Amino acid sequence: MKTRAVVAAVLLLLVTLVSCRSSVVEESTTVNPSEEELITVGFSQLGAESDWRSTNTESMLTALSAENGYNLIYKNGQQKQSNQITAIRMFIQQEVDYIVLAPATETGWDTVLEEAKEAGIPVILVDRRVDVENDNLYTCWVGSDFELEGQKMATWIYDYTCMIGMAPEDVHIVNIQGSLGSTAQIGRSKGLSDAVRIYGWDLLDEVCGDFTETKGREGMAQLLQEYDHINVVYCENDNEAIGAIDAIEAAGKTVGSDIKNGEIMVVSFDGINIKALEYAKIGKISCIAECNPLHGPRVQALIEAIEAGETPDKFNYVSETLFSSVSGITSIEVEGKSYSITPVT
Ligand code: AHR
Repeated sequence: MKTRAVVAAVLLLLVTLVSCRSSVVEESTTVNPSEEELITVGFSQLGAESDWRSTNTESMLTALSAENGYNLIYKNGQQKQSNQITAIRMFIQQEVDYIVLAPATETGWDTVLEEAKEAGIPVILVDRRVDVENDNLYTCWVGSDFELEGQKMATWIYDYTCMIGMAPEDVHIVNIQGSLGSTAQIGRSKGLSDAVRIYGWDLLDEVCGDFTETKGREGMAQLLQEYDHINVVYCENDNEAIGAIDAIEAAGKTVGSDIKNGEIMVVSFDGINIKALEYAKIGKISCIAECNPLHGPRVQALIEAIEAGETPDKFNYVSETLFSSVSGITSIEVEGKSYSITPVT
């Protein structure tokens, strides 16, 4: 935008000079001023691995639209950090006004974010976070508290298993993790591993499901071959859960919360996938911890605040609920704070 603004000013000056000297130039090359007023944003999305991600992308494209005053340059990183780094370097060359980054993983961003900083371009992180030496390499972040999501889910499992009178050592869990090294995976896996340590559950294994249905199915099939006494499957997103349920049913087992009578209980995260919500309604998924993807208007508000000369909060958390149709638990408590369960009907 800065380059175009300079070009526009030069053109206007030339036109003015030429029209002073000659009456030939009556209709000049004018630049549409409304286009000049657009804020140029380079958005590096990490990929398109899940329904959550598609909804998130849609939210960003809608909010940062031309009607809302934005010239958005969107790049899909195809789940590769190297693609995202290339996109950021391209945004820097294009002299965008803002860079919005949804990073695939947490580490490895220092150099390219230094480059953005040197170019004077503010970077807004969305969804996941980066682990950098200097937090001043980005302006602010908006997204979910993934560790809290994990803590909430672990508390729900604890409350439920206590309610049905199960001893902690009889809770045999497997974890189908999200993409390793992503903030969502790190937080949700930590929520579970802390609970395993505190309550004494039997965590049988952890495999990577990469937040996809295919890998969720493959991972679960592999786990079922290795263990015959799994009774809780902790899937780090809904797409993995849908794949895992396929694998459980293909193995001739039943999904559900009646784990004292041989069912395998599946829990997951997101709450945006229609099929997963339908599964939650009929009890195939026992509990879903919400992960809200509608960050477009939030990023828009952050940019507007910066444009207005304000300094937004560094970390901006989204509040989220849990969805379940299992009766008996209407709320859970984590670190002294109560969270109500939203019934799925
Ligand atoms: O970072 C958010 C996570 O990424 C969502 O839970 C998952 O579905 C997505 O792929």
